[in-house]
Amino acid sequence: MAKKKVPEIEPERIETKKEAEKVVKELREALRFHDYRYYVLDDPVIPDSEYDSLFEKLKTLEEKFNLVSPDSPTQQVGGEPREELGTVKHPFPMQSLKAAYEEQKVRDFDDNCRKTLGGKKIEYVVEPKYDGLSIELIYENGSLATAATRGDGETGEDVTANVKTIRSIPLSLLSGQGGAIPSRLVVRGEIYMPLDKFNDLNRKREEKGEQSFANPRNAAAGSVRQLDPKITAQRPLHVFLYEAPLCDGCGVKTHWQVLEAMPKWGLPVNRDMQALVEGIGDALDYHGRMNDKRDELNFEIDGVVIKVNDLAAREKLGMRQRDPRWAIAYKFQPRNAVSKVREIVVNVGRTGALTPVALLEPVRIGGVEVRRASLHNLRQVEEKDIRIGDAVVVERAGDVIPYVVRSIPEERGGREKKFSMPDRCPSCGGDVFVSGDKKTSRCTNFNCPAQLKARLQHFASGRALDIDGLGDKRAEQLVDHGLVKWLPDIFSLSRDDLLTLEGYAEKSAENLHQAIQRARKTTMARFIYALGIPLTGEHLAVILASRYEKLGDLQKAGEEELREIPEIGPEVAGAIAAFFGERHNVQAVEEMRREGLTLENPLYSGKGGEHPLAGLKFVFSGALEGLTRDEAKDLVERLGGWATSSVSSETDYVVAGPGAGAKLEEARNLKIPILSEEEFQEFLDKNG
Ligand code: IVH
Repeated sequence: MAKKKVPEIEPERIETKKEAEKVVKELREALRFHDYRYYVLDDPVIPDSEYDSLFEKLKTLEEKFNLVSPDSPTQQVGGEPREELGTVKHPFPMQSLKAAYEEQKVRDFDDNCRKTLGGKKIEYVVEPKYDGLSIELIYENGSLATAATRGDGETGEDVTANVKTIRSIPLSLLSGQGGAIPSRLVVRGEIYMPLDKFNDLNRKREEKGEQSFANPRNAAAGSVRQLDPKITAQRPLHVFLYEAPLCDGCGVKTHWQVLEAMPKWGLPVNRDMQALVEGIGDALDYHGRMNDKRDELNFEIDGVVIKVNDLAAREKLGMRQRDPRWAIAYKFQPRNAVSKVREIVVNVGRTGALTPVALLEPVRIGGVEVRRASLHNLRQVEEKDIRIGDAVVVERAGDVIPYVVRSIPEERGGREKKFSMPDRCPSCGGDVFVSGDKKTSRCTNFNCPAQLKARLQHFASGRALDIDGLGDKRAEQLVDHGLVKWLPDIFSLSRDDLLTLEGYAEKSAENLHQAIQRARKTTMARFIYALGIPLTGEHLAVILASRYEKLGDLQKAGEEELREIPEIGPEVAGAIAAFFGERHNVQAVEEMRREGLTLENPLYSGKGGEHPLAGLKFVFSGALEGLTRDEAKDLVERLGGWATSSVSSETDYVVAGPGAGAKLEEARNLKIPILSEEEFQEFLDKNG
């Protein structure tokens, strides 16, 4: 599981600008991380309420200390489009909604509206707030032309082909029920997966040994953001539309009229659950009614949306940076359920981090069965006093992985057991180090098999040293048979060593051996990434390689120096410094050098800076004419890109020449853009 990053900060206590700057940097780093988890990975690690609270804190501090900057998360709508899908620029930004959890905040919203609009009671449209994936549909002359996700609010992902497989979305608008079809219609809504269908899907996935989806929202988002529409077509998806930001020639004056018009064109709108109310009191009542009703519904809602009905009044109220002034989301309190902790087990991650995980008696929360919940760290287990056998309150706030909120000590019968972090790693029996604040526990055995397997898998993977033929299974085998006791061993493996393993014949052993030999010569950026330094992905590896010419220079750079780099926050700087502060790691690098590791660093410029292909992944297949394969790879890596040998959903471009075979096929299946050598050269001329 990803690291949970929630700085504990009270903005009122911060007095100096210097202090505020530091905290603002931390908050931005945390919010960017959570945006990435939510929008890019579809896998958030904190509840919405916690995200909103971080966001508010950042906003308060930025305003109070005049620290607003254009790249702050407060100035964006959030999210990044997934790179493999094409992009669509939204005709109008797709904004977010201001969220309120308390009645007073909703009353403040109403006061503000009334101040601008002349004091009278306002007519509001109230609707459920659906918990799915927001979508924009553009109809040109009655035909569905484009479907896009929200993305970063300005530009979304092009999911037209996928959305066209959803039955409830008409490919062309109905006419004949009154009202001409608008020449251009932009509508927005939410794609969701009904709860019963979601549970069926997960059951089937589990039976097939596939990973189940954490919740219906993830399932819907994952299904729409597929590269292959055939997969989307098999998923039970539905949509509710709720806004029409553009309706050419409709002549509507109110939102209610828009909601009435949409079904006439065959567009699905949840008319039964919408209401037109006078004044905020009635809107608050509606919130209460929906809260009571939410468990009976076959889809998830996480609040209600209160919207000014009159479209001219909306114009008057206008927009803030991220959200309109004419609407507010009044969210429900997070969902809880009581369960029992059957056992607390400990997971070992790649970096040796030990995470306690509660195994729970299965409990349904909001239509989803929950069996496990992360307890994050020992400190939390102790502070919350969670014991094995305890009754506990488990929360699934909106759309997040469940977590244990608190124990219920009153229900103890006396046989509950306190949890203690094991002194020995459950994987290797090595010593466990628990930090003073008990927030981190780590297996200190650098050669712990659980860690070593995960590290070796990462080290050999396509975006790291790209050792063809050394996949996850092979890596496990090498560790299990004692052929790799620490990473450098990989470079001293002989063909004969490989032949002792099951499944290897002369040819495959020779191929893997060759691939390992080739991997000794690599780039600094790849090697930094391959080391698996906590919090250090490819993008950061490119930044570090452009700053530091040699690995030794990076090894020597302390935390202070690393913090000076604009893209690096305190947490990341600390992680890198700690990694190279570990004797084992330095020894491993030295040993690899003795085994012939050589690093080239074409990115070094001494100051970081822009790399036009940073983060883009290329695969070359077939013969190239003007360049050798190595030259082409070099070119890509010099510009900050990555050349990998196998095609996956992570690949951005495949460059195919004569004789390109299976990789080309795979690229076609995955709908990855394919470039000829000439197009590749043009691409470099344009981007390089
Ligand atoms: S209206 C300017 N109505 O909530 C934004 N949004 O947190 C207009 N959402 O991005 C949005 N149900 O994806 C609106 N009935 C509803 C909604 C709704 C869910 C989503 C939407 C939006 C997000 C904001």
